[in-house]
Amino acid sequence: MHTPQRYTITAALPYANGPKHLGHLAGAYLPADVYARYLRGRGRRVLFVCGSDEHGTAIANQAIREHVTPRHIIDKYHAINRECFAQLGISFDIYHRTSEPLHHQTASDFFRVLYEKGHLKGIETEQYFDPQAGQFLADRYITGTCPRCAHPSAYGDQCEKCGSDLTPTELIDPRSVLSGSKPELRTTTNWFLPMDEYQALVESYIKSHANWKPTVYGQCLSWLNDGLRPRAMTRDLDWGVQVPLPEAKGKVLYVWFDAPIGYISATKQWALDHHTDWEPWWKDADTQLVHFIGKDNIVFHCITFPLMLMLHGDYILPAQVPANEFMNLEGEKMSTSRGWSIEMDEYLRDFPDRQDVLRYYLMSILPEQKDSEFTWKDFQARNNNELVAILGNFVNRVMVLTHKNFEGKVPPLSTDSPSEAAVAAAIREVPTGVARAIEQYRFREALQGVMDLARTGNKYLADTEPWKLMKNDPQRAGEILHTGLQICANLCALLQPFLPFTAASLAQMLNIEVPSWNEAGNAEILSSGHSLGESRLLFSPIDDAVVEEQVNKLKKKADAAKAASGVSTDAEPKEIKVPVQKTAISYEDFSRMDIRVAHVLEAEKVAGADKLLKLKVDTGNDVREIVSGIALHYTPEEMKGKKVLVLVNLEPRKIRGILSQGMILMAEDSNGTLTLVSPVDDAPAGSTVK
Ligand code: 2FM
Ligand code: ZN
Repeated sequence: MHTPQRYTITAALPYANGPKHLGHLAGAYLPADVYARYLRGRGRRVLFVCGSDEHGTAIANQAIREHVTPRHIIDKYHAINRECFAQLGISFDIYHRTSEPLHHQTASDFFRVLYEKGHLKGIETEQYFDPQAGQFLADRYITGTCPRCAHPSAYGDQCEKCGSDLTPTELIDPRSVLSGSKPELRTTTNWFLPMDEYQALVESYIKSHANWKPTVYGQCLSWLNDGLRPRAMTRDLDWGVQVPLPEAKGKVLYVWFDAPIGYISATKQWALDHHTDWEPWWKDADTQLVHFIGKDNIVFHCITFPLMLMLHGDYILPAQVPANEFMNLEGEKMSTSRGWSIEMDEYLRDFPDRQDVLRYYLMSILPEQKDSEFTWKDFQARNNNELVAILGNFVNRVMVLTHKNFEGKVPPLSTDSPSEAAVAAAIREVPTGVARAIEQYRFREALQGVMDLARTGNKYLADTEPWKLMKNDPQRAGEILHTGLQICANLCALLQPFLPFTAASLAQMLNIEVPSWNEAGNAEILSSGHSLGESRLLFSPIDDAVVEEQVNKLKKKADAAKAASGVSTDAEPKEIKVPVQKTAISYEDFSRMDIRVAHVLEAEKVAGADKLLKLKVDTGNDVREIVSGIALHYTPEEMKGKKVLVLVNLEPRKIRGILSQGMILMAEDSNGTLTLVSPVDDAPAGSTVK
């Protein structure tokens, strides 16, 4: 089989709208990391890119939820996610950001090329608009019932349940996420990729990849069967990459247009950092482009992005898209918003030294062919019965016996008995099978292949019982330990892609560098007489109490999320009532208002009017009377002596026979409650507000 010159490996750019959970980790990042580490170990040229997806309504929505700016959100979660991936040993060559100017430029240039080639068409369509919020409702700003599977909370661009790509107008019973109200249709122009015109092109691309995973290939065929439809590549939004056309002011690129281009921008940044050329990684026909993603991203990586690349013209196309299915948790779908999830940062806080246990467990239950299930009980069982009892136990027995009986030096092997020959054969064969599985993206099977070598080691020790030979036949015992140690060295090489922290500890114990993958299969990695390092336990058991604690914690978290969403549902109507911002005015308009700090000298009720107080105020220039409708909220006693803000040049008006010369400023909430607006610190009467 032809070996490509180089591999560009990408893992889906996660939205920087929150910490990512273990389902995400298992779906894309972990298998991608194993693949990248394995290929590097084989001496292949690999570039493994990822980064934060920082645009789109997912970010803008989170900003609304946290009452902060989108910039604040992306800075916060970019840092958290980058750090978690690093701590879990995900070996990205670069973790970039789509908010970087380099990305904006790259995405903008890409759009322009497609536009200039006539592949993007400005089309006026009716889009949903939220009159209360005063904006168009793109993508995740709108939800409704999926027209394909009836899922009640599909987004305007995609149904996460059935994976269909949607347009907001297809949603049944659409609702604005911003106000909860029913949106109305208004016309606007956006730029569309007429995907229907390229149906044949996409079809021949997909059909030339019948070797893709059946789940991925099957989905692609079903979309093609439905017929591709034109898709808007721009949005009426203010958060994202500006559309580089003068007539598209105030519009941005669709997040799924710019995000995959993020892989290219990341490559460019990496190349700049390493003073090298980025183009071979994206343009050389002998580069293998592999996208690791979760199943909800299939349509974008298998159809939209390849089509964009084809139409642009300069690029290679994805050769493989090994998408995974979903990982459920304790019987339910993982969901951060419902609190039914384990976030990476949460796991790392609770298990700061068990990164490889997580890697091992997730890898053992990867949802490669169908959805899988994470349970804490199974996590414990895999740790205790496999990592501790099989791998850790084997390494420990060999190390301890060698230290105790052979001064920690690799004993010599002089004979070649059938049992050693059988072990040597296993050592030689295992890497081939594991490599084949990895190269076919069957990571579960690959990891079990490695564990089988540890199982072989345990069986070999059980059969030969070197501890019984120490006294009468130390030479034979030494030969067995020699062989056991060679298994350990091979395990070290083979474990590196899967459990890099364990491989590093094992290498330290063996007093060697982690052998490269290419050294695996050699039954004589360690030379006789080589001094070993100290022996330590690679893994420790997990108690039932830990499992119980985690299960309880999960339930509490879900309850809290439920309660919080209840609160926010109650609170939502209030939010809805916050009035939409008024039409923009110039500074000149504003400066015509003369607003001043005034000192309330006297206050009294207006006879026969419950709501009114008559105030005598010192404006700095004069003392005047003002009638104000605050009597239901403040008593005359409370008002006396207060510093307030007064619009002093409001036309005088007679109220209840009293000439009111100005207006006291107040804040009014959606329930009509009035609060006085005063200078926070003392300011002399007459100070002007600007
Ligand atoms: O689903 C997601 O989290 C997206 N942010 C993935 C983007 S992948 C790529 F195209 F950038
Ligand atoms: Zn659906």
